Amino acid sequence: MQSIADVDAVATPTEEHELRRCLTAFDLTLLGIGAIIGAGIFVLTGIAAATQAGPAIIFSYILAGLASGFSALAYAELASSIGGCGSAYGYAYAGIGQFVAWVIGWDLLLEYGTDAATICIGWSAYLQNILKAFGIVLPAVLVNDPFHGGIVNLPAIFIIFGLAGILSAGAKEGARFNNIMVYIKLAIIVLFLVIGALHFNTANWKPFSPFGFQGVINGAALIFFAYIGFDAVSTAGEETVNPKRDLPIGIIASLLICTLIYVVFAGLLTGLTHYSTLNTGSPVATALLNTGHKFAAEVIALGAIAGLTTTILAMYYGFTRVYLAMSRDHLLPKKIAKIDSKSRTPRQLIWATAIVIAITAGFFPITQIANLVNIGTLAAFIAVCASVMVLRYTKPDMHRPFRAPWNPVIPMAGILMCGYLMFSLPLTTWVSFSVWTMAGLAIYFGYGKWNAKKALITRAS
Ligand code: ALA
Repeated sequence: MQSIADVDAVATPTEEHELRRCLTAFDLTLLGIGAIIGAGIFVLTGIAAATQAGPAIIFSYILAGLASGFSALAYAELASSIGGCGSAYGYAYAGIGQFVAWVIGWDLLLEYGTDAATICIGWSAYLQNILKAFGIVLPAVLVNDPFHGGIVNLPAIFIIFGLAGILSAGAKEGARFNNIMVYIKLAIIVLFLVIGALHFNTANWKPFSPFGFQGVINGAALIFFAYIGFDAVSTAGEETVNPKRDLPIGIIASLLICTLIYVVFAGLLTGLTHYSTLNTGSPVATALLNTGHKFAAEVIALGAIAGLTTTILAMYYGFTRVYLAMSRDHLLPKKIAKIDSKSRTPRQLIWATAIVIAITAGFFPITQIANLVNIGTLAAFIAVCASVMVLRYTKPDMHRPFRAPWNPVIPMAGILMCGYLMFSLPLTTWVSFSVWTMAGLAIYFGYGKWNAKKALITRAS
């Protein structure tokens, strides 16, 4: 894929790299909700309220939702007009060129890979809590990585291989499982909202904004993580029955629903108990225990497990689809991304990715790496907004079933807001991000660029 002119020709998958079209707008919306609602709302809301914004965390959620909303409109435009399964990678390729696309694709692999591994570790921790409630305690050496006095985090490995089995059975099977888990997650959230509304105490909202405007902004940078995931919907472009119509619906509907849930959820959480008590790893349980709802706290922990499962699934799925798109362009090895003729999924790739995520989640303490998820995602969002503006200029006549309104205001606002949040991240995150980018550049100049060129020459001769 060398220029905008031949985007369509090269993006078309060959038979043995073709996926099955079986997902609807409804599946995509649930895939989005599955990807978005996870550790962010269940963990970060409490920490951000207690340390950054107080009850004004609801404005942090609105701000971060706006930044994501601008990017979502840009995603929706490119997903409907360019399509493919490469998401921001494919759009950057079409809008800006191969090199930038590589950097973005490399970032996406980092985002989806580290996010999936991090959440596997969180999943393991939640599972242990629940087992403990039933009097079952797993041996410490089998639930901790070697850096924390154990041998391996076995539950973290178990969940990723379980999901590998589901994903490799087929996209529809994966979506069916995802939909059930999303219903459980939503039911749990409704339960919390009902309890929160019945026991809301206005005294807990005083003071409402203890850390001022800056606190609201810092809170937004922190809880931006909670919105990550709607972008994963766009990686389902080649498995969607009617992508031009359904991708924008899936992306925008899932983000709108989650924004609404987040704002109400954060408002009720800080109304249920005083924000200063919420600086814990499980603020929802804390709030419910503080108000005497022990049983609900346990049920909601179960729901959190369902929530985390769908987030892992979506990130894992996104990783394999972005790899598939990059390998079709010969920037990464292609052989492993062959589509299985029966399930029409990239089976070998799914299992190889599971092994990498399992090793990371099972043997490494990756809480530090988790910070990289935000920066990688923000970089991808900026690239997608920029691609919208470039393509409106270079390809004004391209068919756009969905158009982001008020161009260039919306993509520009997306770039500025995401850029601002990116620069609010700590220096250590920037250093790690630079190291990852350097490694990516070495692979690109040492392999991808030449391999893609070789494939182009072979095709021409
Ligand atoms: N938005 C996802 C979460 O909150 C990444 O876990």
